[in-house]
Amino acid sequence: MTAISIGSVTLDSNIVLAPMAGVTDMPFRRLVKSFGVGLVVSEMIASLAMVYAARKTLKMSSCCREEQPMSVQIAGYQADIMAQAARLNEQRGAAIIDINMGCPAKKVVNGQSGSALMRDLDHAKSLIKAVVGAVSIPVTLKMRTGWDHETRNAPELAKIAEDCGVMALAVHGRTRCQFYKGSADWDFIATVKDAVSIPVFANGDITSIETAKECLKRSNADGLLIGRGTYGRPWLINQIDHYLSTGTALPDPDMSTQLDCILRHYQSMLDFYGEQGVKIARKHLGWYSKGLFGACEYRSAINQETDGQKVMTLIREFYTPLIERMAA
Ligand SMILES: Cc1cc2nc3c(=O)[nH]c(=O)nc-3n(C[C@H](O)[C@H](O)[C@H](O)COP(=O)(O)O)c2cc1C
Repeated sequence: MTAISIGSVTLDSNIVLAPMAGVTDMPFRRLVKSFGVGLVVSEMIASLAMVYAARKTLKMSSCCREEQPMSVQIAGYQADIMAQAARLNEQRGAAIIDINMGCPAKKVVNGQSGSALMRDLDHAKSLIKAVVGAVSIPVTLKMRTGWDHETRNAPELAKIAEDCGVMALAVHGRTRCQFYKGSADWDFIATVKDAVSIPVFANGDITSIETAKECLKRSNADGLLIGRGTYGRPWLINQIDHYLSTGTALPDPDMSTQLDCILRHYQSMLDFYGEQGVKIARKHLGWYSKGLFGACEYRSAINQETDGQKVMTLIREFYTPLIERMAA
């Protein structure tokens, strides 16, 4: 593990779980943390909703003790509202505030938030200044390489952020116009790294030890931010971290350990969301079962079941024969 400091916060490891709306809720963050990760980041929190204390938003931004240090990511376009949202999250236990300048979604950029801010660096600067000035904890910023290929201004935004007191940056190596198409340009991230002296975390398409090594080499980044690679593999970040610091690869947990992890994850989703958790957890159960024998029928069964306890039984019934087969 390579420790890294983000302002006054020291992380045990330089590999971070990327913010993902609909995925990095408290149950998932806590689970990834239990395997080992430098930092977990909340789902994107709409600043305006936070300030109006919308119930769902408050739940999304809540942190628990086991996941500390935790970063809460805020999005928005009004400096005073972003500053208030940052302050509220500091009071509610966030160790770091992350500003979202990377979200490509139409409904976000049409509201001039997320990656739309990369098209107006003066406005971006006023938001950054307001947020940094509002809190005493470190502020970080996540961006894309630019709006489109012709305007890849991430190095410029990075310099502005550093000058305003931002303590670390994460760069997803795609433009806004790429959404998730094509592949992340890790070489371009190196130009952001060259522009600043604060830590830069490279992001995009890191799904294995090999891609992690290659990304670090090409981006020269100080750390990595990993998102979709953790789908169904909450242990992936720990495996990558372990390899990078020791040179030896950890195997995937055995099937019986995976079953324990899935049941633990499922129960914590039911505890966190109540009945709604049954629906919200389906995608995770699908990801865990990807590539396993009989996964199609299993997914179809869990997607129809509305009782959480019965889903737990279906999970056990699906994994137990697989565990037995492995033991035979
Ligand atoms: C389902 C989903 C939700 C996402 N939500 C957020 C978000 O709330 N905030 C953010 O900054 N990025 C968000 N992202 C982008 C990821 O943080 C990351 O930049 C992107 O997925 C590329 O990294 P990866 O290839 O490791 O997944 C999201 C991505 C996905 C797939």
